[in-house]
Amino acid sequence: MNIEDYLERKRLEVDEFLESHIPSLHTSPSTLHESIRYSLFAGGKRIRSILTIAAAEAIAPPPKALLPVASSFELIHTYSLIHDDLPAMDNDDYRRGKLTNHKIFGEAIAILAGDALQAMAFEFCSRPDFVNGLDPQCQIRVINELALGSGTQGMVGGQVLDIQAESREVDLAGLKTIHAHKTGQLIRAAVRVGALLSGSSNTQLERLTGYAEDVGLAFQIADDLLNVTGTPEELGKGTKTDADRGKKTYPSFYGLEESQALAQDCVDRAISRLAGFDEKADPLREIAQYIVSRRK
Ligand code: IPE
Ligand code: IPE
Ligand code: MG
Ligand code: MG
Repeated sequence: MNIEDYLERKRLEVDEFLESHIPSLHTSPSTLHESIRYSLFAGGKRIRSILTIAAAEAIAPPPKALLPVASSFELIHTYSLIHDDLPAMDNDDYRRGKLTNHKIFGEAIAILAGDALQAMAFEFCSRPDFVNGLDPQCQIRVINELALGSGTQGMVGGQVLDIQAESREVDLAGLKTIHAHKTGQLIRAAVRVGALLSGSSNTQLERLTGYAEDVGLAFQIADDLLNVTGTPEELGKGTKTDADRGKKTYPSFYGLEESQALAQDCVDRAISRLAGFDEKADPLREIAQYIVSRRK
């Protein structure tokens, strides 16, 4: 399989779904919807949504609810990026190749756009017409995973640790905890939700959870590496900003080469966890590899 084609195809599916279900620019309050659309449709990779889809397809033909539920992860993710870029957080000027949300719409609207995207994610996982046909127990588990991946023990908890670490000593275990939460937990939830939607067995769910944890760490190590080695043109966001802010990252602990090797170790481990899966899991295998070889 060609992973570039696969990612492009799935990204388009997610984008089309989002495009047709996010309120239009003219929906009142129009500034809010302009702000949401500005960040949401600025060209994200949609990797979390794609992981949900790929995890579901690794097990069985997925239900119709897959696309709305997968898209909900992108809503949480875009909200987290808008807030991550705020002056009170990473204070960044560029995201997805454009000025950051607060630079265009002001901090109040940027905060509120993030808030609204978060609520919308839960709406996407619970709208009767979106989840029609899904077993109610499964639906509740999906919503629970989304909440846990996003909340105090998930992405938001990790963001708190990340901000606190700017002015604190952190050891390697602490750095891993930050990464596992700020980035890992949402990726973990995305994969688990895909598995749940396709009716995975407990064993399959456990294996895919291990895969997701390794991929999540690899993803953030790659993000840290690209912050040092990438260009603003490739990434669509500022580079060298981690060092400027005193962020604790894999490159700051290990240097570039060793960080790359550690990311590759995560990928190898992730792939080995898929040993019991057939070729339907090939996209998951390829995505793991893509995550550390990507340039954006
Ligand atoms: C960037 O995520 C922030 C992290 C959690 C590392 P992505 O690299 O997935 O960003 P987009 O969605 O493609 O812009
Ligand atoms: C972003 O982490 C994590 C979340 C938004 C939850 P970073 O702050 O390291 O990511 P970039 O480099 O700004 O995309
Ligand atoms: Mg950050
Ligand atoms: Mg940031």
